[in-house]
Amino acid sequence: MEGSPIPVLTVPTAPYQDQRPTGGGGLRRPTGLFEGQRNYLPNFIQSVLSSIDLRDRQGCTMVVGSEKIGRLIIGQNGILSTPAVSCIIRKIKAAGGIILTASHCPGGPGGEFGVKFNVANGGPAPDVVSDKIYQISKTIEEYAICPDLRIDLSRLGRQEFDLENKFKPFRVEIVDPVDIYLNLLRTIFDFNAIKSLLTGPGQLKIRVDAMHGVMGPYVRKVLCDELGAPANSAINCVPLEDFGGQHPDPNLTYATTLLEAMKGGEYGFGAAFDADGDRYMILGQNGFFVSPSDSLAIIAANLSCIPYFRQMGVRGFGRSMPTSMALDRVAKAMKVPVYETPAGWRFFSNLMDSGRCSLCGEESFGTGSDHLREKDGLWAVLVWLSIIAARKQSVEEIVRDHWAKFGRHYYCRFDYEGLEPKTTYYIMRDLEALVTDKSFIGQQFAVGSHVYSVAKTDSFEYVDPVDGTVTKKQGLRIIFSDASRLIFRLSSSSGVRATIRLYAESYERDPTGHDQEPQMNEFDKLWPAQSGFPSILFVSAQMHNTTK
Ligand code: G6P
Ligand code: ZN
Repeated sequence: MEGSPIPVLTVPTAPYQDQRPTGGGGLRRPTGLFEGQRNYLPNFIQSVLSSIDLRDRQGCTMVVGSEKIGRLIIGQNGILSTPAVSCIIRKIKAAGGIILTASHCPGGPGGEFGVKFNVANGGPAPDVVSDKIYQISKTIEEYAICPDLRIDLSRLGRQEFDLENKFKPFRVEIVDPVDIYLNLLRTIFDFNAIKSLLTGPGQLKIRVDAMHGVMGPYVRKVLCDELGAPANSAINCVPLEDFGGQHPDPNLTYATTLLEAMKGGEYGFGAAFDADGDRYMILGQNGFFVSPSDSLAIIAANLSCIPYFRQMGVRGFGRSMPTSMALDRVAKAMKVPVYETPAGWRFFSNLMDSGRCSLCGEESFGTGSDHLREKDGLWAVLVWLSIIAARKQSVEEIVRDHWAKFGRHYYCRFDYEGLEPKTTYYIMRDLEALVTDKSFIGQQFAVGSHVYSVAKTDSFEYVDPVDGTVTKKQGLRIIFSDASRLIFRLSSSSGVRATIRLYAESYERDPTGHDQEPQMNEFDKLWPAQSGFPSILFVSAQMHNTTK
């Protein structure tokens, strides 16, 4: 610390009316909007910080933040994955953390930019906090900033600054982005078992794609340096501002480089992550796809392969409502409860904090456990490698054995994007009237020789078992008598235009019926032509199938 105190400026500003954080996603907007609208970013950051009670804010630690805050923790070169932020917040008992990320969307100029806010338990801000931030952002009149504060992001360790209005020095700590997270992983997994799998004669050849997001350094350090995978197992490991022009979303539509490499047959295990490392996709040899819902159920059934769960026990499972019910079959066999929550990781936090839930997952390529309060892509990869090491089977064998034991939940998701919000509102309203009408119960629909009869319909509502919060209108469910389901849901993470998601799940107990392509279930034929649906959607939106 040297020289005279660094001035803290209070800058007058005008509020924006459109800074409502989306559930879980924080504030995500086109990069151009952040650049072009005056004070758009500082306004929002100030609103986030002001949402923390002054008493808690003074002298607290934030994982990346500012103003009246005593200490900042920043990842070296500004790189921290979402799971690592959750890990650090919990470890050092910070008041929260701010993550600047486009998440799984194209980033950089011409792409998107986002600000996520995690709270003191390490999890995404719950809705009450997001509402508070939104209210503040609509009336904000000034923000505080230290334009002259120069932090060397490359230098590990503590840097202290004398800020004008502070008695104590303002501390900034640059931490190794991987170290703290790696140490947590060491307490969860049997590193030796994974290392034996990845090294020596007969080693499992893996291919892991960091998609030019933040995961590169984590993948290299954990999988290559620590667990012995050859350096060329890890690809696209240099974090790039625009993700190399790619869409860093680990699914069959966007992780095509990995899919093609896996189809070559040379590798036995493939994985990809999104830009901030919370989402993941698993592929087996020849591009065998593990659906996120199946991945969750298989992990649940094999938790005893992981030292962490052997030690801690398994208390319960959580899945978002649209996630397939494959998990429920495992839970039933293990005699543990399943909590069915609205989409969005934040709904799992209370369950985990209160010790009700050990493992959670979503169909949107996220799985995690109570080691953190975020979904965690690299953790999921280490879980899979542990299972492969313990069972001595290939990815495909593990999945097929699982289906043989529990039955297969065929699963497809269709996204109708770019819809006019008003039209979307009417579609969902009319659809709700149609499916919740009493006459809809008992109706039968035939697809080939398979007859589905409607057993139950509703508009999904969640009552948080911990604090009693009620969350309504979380999707329309049509549940058939054999546990197959059709779900219509409004996406909460789309921007100005709206997105309707259609989730189709068909249960097949008989192992001779486990070899179909999921889309052969042609769910659209289920729908009586005269209802006018889904043709309404087909004409008004572009369809993307992301989870085939
Ligand atoms: C974000 C959250 C996920 C959630 C997803 C839902 O990615 O981090 O936890 O599943 O949003 O998105 P949607 O567009 O389906 O509302
Ligand atoms: Zn993400």
